[in-house]
Amino acid sequence: MNKSLPGGSRGNKGMGPVDPLKYATGYHAPVLCNTVVEILITDPAGTYVDCTLGGGGHSHALLDVLAPEATVIGIDRDPEAIREARRRLSADVDSGRFVTVNGNFADLTEIARATEFSDVDGILFDFGVSSHQLDIPERGFSYRDSGGLDMRMGDDTNLTASEIVNSWSYEDLRSVLYEYGEESRAGLIARDIVAARPINDTVQLAEVVRRRVRGPNAPKVLSRIFQALRVRVNDELTAIRRALVATVSLLKPGGRCLAMSYHSLEDRIVKRFFRYGNFEGVAQKDFYGNVLTPWEVLTRRPLTADDEEIEANPRARSVRIRAAQRLATEATPTTH
Ligand SMILES: C[S@@+](CC[C@H](N)C(=O)[O-])C[C@H]1O[C@@H](n2cnc3c(N)ncnc32)[C@H](O)[C@@H]1O
Repeated sequence: MNKSLPGGSRGNKGMGPVDPLKYATGYHAPVLCNTVVEILITDPAGTYVDCTLGGGGHSHALLDVLAPEATVIGIDRDPEAIREARRRLSADVDSGRFVTVNGNFADLTEIARATEFSDVDGILFDFGVSSHQLDIPERGFSYRDSGGLDMRMGDDTNLTASEIVNSWSYEDLRSVLYEYGEESRAGLIARDIVAARPINDTVQLAEVVRRRVRGPNAPKVLSRIFQALRVRVNDELTAIRRALVATVSLLKPGGRCLAMSYHSLEDRIVKRFFRYGNFEGVAQKDFYGNVLTPWEVLTRRPLTADDEEIEANPRARSVRIRAAQRLATEATPTTH
């Protein structure tokens, strides 16, 4: 079993099989392409699932390295991402090497059944939103541009950020900001928001937050507040948990799952699931004291981007990559 990771613990930008610059487009610049390709691919002729297709950068890198008979299935909630990736990879769409599904990775089991894929060699997650989604003011993801308080990644949910901000009770609002933004001033900011209603757009919401938190801390707090609303609108953490559980049945023994997290809530879920096979972080042991888990962890510590990559792509600053290999055991997750 190959336990040595390519490029040491910090990836191998520029030294691997692909040129990372090739995959950055105006839509999105994928993070740590070489690390993804080198860890995820175990069988060049295998089947791979990119659960967060975005602009198709990682899928593109995988398809460049994989053999002609390999397949990549790309999933995204956002129909715009599907259109962009299909346009970019049209030759692979035509040849059948690249298949897209507009859906939520929370439904990975159902998507696999409907698309008829199983015994997968690798599954990739690159959580969060794409640069393109952030760049479109009307989608409401960014506090820097004026846009409606929407924040839906796709049209599979009716809940919007506006509904949470303008209609939810103070208690519910506070718990969203606290739980999904890990914001210590959640109570004060929730009270300010309730007092400022109606709040019609992102800039107005940002002003309410800035009145409470001035100075150099303001951008961090704003990011946390916007993150909290986005995570709740899209029920992101539930989707991650459901998808991770599904990977266990979909991967063949020796197949790998790689997850790229951008904040501690995502990373904690992945870390626990790879280490213990559950989300509580509690080791289930057999009679002999061996931890019962479907995984062999490939990254004892999360992999991060080096300074060069961070300079070229600021989004890489917060990435944490964890990877695990499906063991040939019958151990299945104990939580859902
Ligand atoms: C960071 S971007 C991925 C970028 C991509 N790796 C690339 O190279 O262009 C994350 C993408 O995942 C999608 N996404 C987030 N949560 C999702 C979910 N639960 N199901 C499906 N797609 C999701 C977003 O719509 C977004 O397009």
